[in-house]
Amino acid sequence: MSGNIPPPLGLLAELTHRCPLGCPYCSNPVDLEKRGAELDTATWQRVLREAAGLGVLQLHLSGGEPAARPDLEVIAAAAAEAGLYANLITSGVLLDAARIGALARAGLAHVQLSIQHAEPEAADRIAHFRGGHARKLALAAMVRDAGLALTVNTVLHRGNIDALPEMIGLAEAMGAQRMEVAHTQYHGWALRNRAALMPAREAVEWTRGIVEAERKRLGNAMAIDFVAPDYHATRPKACMGGWGRRFLNISPSGQVLPCHAAETIPGLAFENVRNSSLEDIWYGSDSFNRFRGTDWMPLPCRECDRREIDWGGCRCQALALTGDASRTDPVCGLSPDHALIAAARAEAPQEEYAWRR
Ligand code: SF4
Ligand code: FES
Repeated sequence: MSGNIPPPLGLLAELTHRCPLGCPYCSNPVDLEKRGAELDTATWQRVLREAAGLGVLQLHLSGGEPAARPDLEVIAAAAAEAGLYANLITSGVLLDAARIGALARAGLAHVQLSIQHAEPEAADRIAHFRGGHARKLALAAMVRDAGLALTVNTVLHRGNIDALPEMIGLAEAMGAQRMEVAHTQYHGWALRNRAALMPAREAVEWTRGIVEAERKRLGNAMAIDFVAPDYHATRPKACMGGWGRRFLNISPSGQVLPCHAAETIPGLAFENVRNSSLEDIWYGSDSFNRFRGTDWMPLPCRECDRREIDWGGCRCQALALTGDASRTDPVCGLSPDHALIAAARAEAPQEEYAWRR
């Protein structure tokens, strides 16, 4: 059944779409799933055992804000019992020392904590949550005290890009072993805010130099991962490492997706963990096989020597920008639709964005 399809490496478990923050760069879908549709604890426990059996090594507990679920600790324990390396992706504002301690005892391995800016007032404004920045700093200390590994993540956009050096300094002071500096990806909610979020090209280039200089300064003290912005590139990223190649994503209601935006693609039917096993879905479902490999590719991807490097880029971005998920990602300079990217870059900047809530 599995042929030459490798097993997945990672699972993104979106435990809930509920979130106390309102970040304008949120890449979750515009239409969020409701609390009443969420999978229950026992189903998540079963699904995590199935994931480990399928070969998944890394689990990312995500959302929304996963700590909005009171059973987060039970789910983390199920992950550890199944042998998964569990990472919690959190805004931090709903957690306290008691819950972090319980998560550590449950076997959680790693926390990825977001920051929005280096200055409290600016950070709270972006997150649309008063007092959130201070809670995040407090949480970082709790994570360290609990002996958990910490990554600090920031999403760059026009409203915080100038503060990148200060944010790197803040992550260092928070005791992070790693920082992820990610330019906004214009998916889901973020796409509607594109003209308000997109930084100038000079600012983007400046961030590359800052990251290089800070990597040298920090040495082994803190690693920095840099996610470059698609809209200032001429070759796309291998979104999700290639469709159906390395990752699967489970939505709060149990939909199993090759990426978190896949449900925007018309004509694709998705399976649900309530009705099918992860193994059947990974190897046999139409949705995972639709854009797997290279057979589906149009020109110019089909004859391109990068087709097994970037796998044609992002299907959801191709859909959002061209209306057709099976076209070459317009980020690619070889795409016949690449002018769409230049046009977006040339859009008049908007003053204000729409917050998520
Ligand atoms: Fe990648 Fe397709 Fe562009 Fe080649 S043509 S670089 S495979 S997106
Ligand atoms: Fe769906 Fe990139 S977000 S393939």
